[in-house]
Amino acid sequence: MTDKTPSIHGQWSSRFAFILAATGSAVGLGNIWKFPYITGENGGGAFVLVYLICVLLIGIPIMIAEIMLGRRGQKNPIDTMQTLASQSKADPRWQYLGWMGIIAGFLILAYYSVIAGWSMAYVTKGFFGSFSGADATAIKSLFDGLMASPIQQIFWHSAFMVITMQVVMRGVQGGLEKTVRFLMPALFVILFLLIAYAMSSGAYQQGIHFLFNPDFSKINSSAVLTAMGHAFFTLSLGMGAIMVYGSYLPKDVSIAKTTFIIAGADTLVALLAGIAIFPLVFANNLEASAGPGLIFQTLPLAFGHMTGGWLFGFLFFILLFFAALTSSISLIEPAVAWLIENKNIDRKQACIWSGSACWALGVGVVLSFNAWSGFKLFGKNLFELLDYLTANLMLPLGGLGLAVFAGWVLSQKEAQQELALPEQGFQAWQLLIKYVAPGAVFLVFLHVVGVL
Ligand code: PFF
Repeated sequence: MTDKTPSIHGQWSSRFAFILAATGSAVGLGNIWKFPYITGENGGGAFVLVYLICVLLIGIPIMIAEIMLGRRGQKNPIDTMQTLASQSKADPRWQYLGWMGIIAGFLILAYYSVIAGWSMAYVTKGFFGSFSGADATAIKSLFDGLMASPIQQIFWHSAFMVITMQVVMRGVQGGLEKTVRFLMPALFVILFLLIAYAMSSGAYQQGIHFLFNPDFSKINSSAVLTAMGHAFFTLSLGMGAIMVYGSYLPKDVSIAKTTFIIAGADTLVALLAGIAIFPLVFANNLEASAGPGLIFQTLPLAFGHMTGGWLFGFLFFILLFFAALTSSISLIEPAVAWLIENKNIDRKQACIWSGSACWALGVGVVLSFNAWSGFKLFGKNLFELLDYLTANLMLPLGGLGLAVFAGWVLSQKEAQQELALPEQGFQAWQLLIKYVAPGAVFLVFLHVVGVL
């Protein structure tokens, strides 16, 4: 283990371990909880199409850049940006990109852990049969009851944070890698079981039609911003998580090939989650645009009325919990790596410090659903504010910065040395990272602030 060596701070044991870990980071609540509800809120197919285009033209080139910068820098995101900027004789302020990333990860984890806590609460509710035979009113009051109870939510949020900290404390190979090796295959098995279930018991065609038939009248600039932000969020881009994972990547692994596998798996899981969820939503006359409570308010109702629904309901929320855990560890890892490498403290202490701070902000998020629900800024409660600020603004902005750095600041010889792509592949990447990705992010921002 090299975890304690500050300069190289750990390494994955193989390419496969990195693929599992990065896919674990990418596949999370974003795919199973968020993608379905924002698709539902934004009218379905057209939104899905915009999201897929963003993944392809913006997400993939930026993911290649982010892994490349991480492996080149060999440090946490702040020091990586500092080192690479100084090697490129560029402004040292590029390190602020690393800072913004670590802060974004911290803000995301604060609410991510609360939602992951809901999934843990629902694992136990499913297990003890709370969904069995319950009608819409009972299921709604189950969810409302959880929302209204700070104690219950803080309990589960705390449990999730403690588990995350426990994993991260054990280091790159002993903690992160061991966990994803077990959880990722389990996640795929559960997802396929659920799809088989939805295909046999749900309004399958209606679900597919909703997901894949674009109706462009439902798309506006805010939907495009949400789709683009979600491409960043779901691929874990723009905040240094993939950069720090890239810094643990052995030198002989092809970054581009690996990126296609990770982004492909992530997109597949989101679409499969949609295919598993919407047929059940429509078969039970539930509301596709129910918002963040979608899967919690709708699916238990479906599960509660179907043969075998008890088991599948229980499995579904375990799946959600697993997916959240393999992502939460990557949300906190950049901050932990920075603390270890700069503050002369060990991994355990670094986890305790960063985890506790996140936990405290998470308590604020819990309260935004009940005691503080009246407290709003720009019409949003704390949860909505953190979500908007991180997914729609900080991650795309971080991604824009990374694209500009990788395409314009870093010497292209170094980039090519690290990527080792065939000439045409490298040129295609350059075109995307220099012009297409930054241009697209910029245009969407201009449109949102009303300039375009
Ligand atoms: N990609 C994760 C998801 O889809 O749930 C969320 C996430 C993890 C975002 C790590 C950002 C990150 F750095």
